[in-house]
Amino acid sequence: MTGDLSPIDKAKFVAAKRAVEFVEDGMRVGLGTGSTAAWMVRCLGELVQRDGLNIIGVPTSVRTADLARQVGIKVTSLDEAKWLDLTIDGADEYDANLNLIKGGGGALLQEKIVATASDMMVVITDASKQVDTLGAFPLPVEVIPFGWQTSKALIEEILVSMDVMGRTATLRMNGDAPYFTDEGNHIIDLHLNRIGDARQLGMVLNQVPGVVENGLFIDICDVVVIGFGDGRLEVRNINEGTVVEDKLDFVETENLFADMDD
Ligand code: A5P
Repeated sequence: MTGDLSPIDKAKFVAAKRAVEFVEDGMRVGLGTGSTAAWMVRCLGELVQRDGLNIIGVPTSVRTADLARQVGIKVTSLDEAKWLDLTIDGADEYDANLNLIKGGGGALLQEKIVATASDMMVVITDASKQVDTLGAFPLPVEVIPFGWQTSKALIEEILVSMDVMGRTATLRMNGDAPYFTDEGNHIIDLHLNRIGDARQLGMVLNQVPGVVENGLFIDICDVVVIGFGDGRLEVRNINEGTVVEDKLDFVETENLFADMDD
């Protein structure tokens, strides 16, 4: 069945399959959002149903919550769980220091809160998302709907003095209407091409009235698991300074694909 998947999907699956090895019985686990995170939720669901793994999941979006329940994972809110052992999530870009851009799927606000409330954040990805310098992927900034045009204008003004290579800001759309996040906010995507000082930019953006959060995850991620289409994977741990290479055998995992509909 895995033969039907594209190399990118196989890479995402491999990363997800390896990442769930970080999950131990009794853990409270943050569940990320996006296509790679969806693989992880499915893999975790398999462990819950097949092996009786006992965990509580804290989803970072409505769609992840729906999928988690569908595959048999108990879910609760962050306020109920209070603190998490681990969060596993995807990313849109990562650099050598494991700093990230996230929010391509619109869930950056919950994702950042959940990751920050976790002892450890593991990012699952394919190798195409690695960059020398963050910024090729448009940086999402979540803003409240009230006065969003003013927030956008202020952001554009700030960008003039920032070390970036592009300065276009666009309101994210859903067809003809503005996109709404799960929290009822809009997203402004910043097309910067290259971010010279991501830490500074992240802090400055969050000072703009109306900005709720931005998609720069600086010093939050501990481990990146990079999957490849042929089953190879690489696990980089920034705290331990280790890089471990491995390979996954697809044959063992075919059950997971039997009911795939997305
Ligand atoms: C969701 O808001 C994002 O942060 C995702 O984690 C990110 O966009 C990665 O998504 P994919 O795994 O679908 O590429």
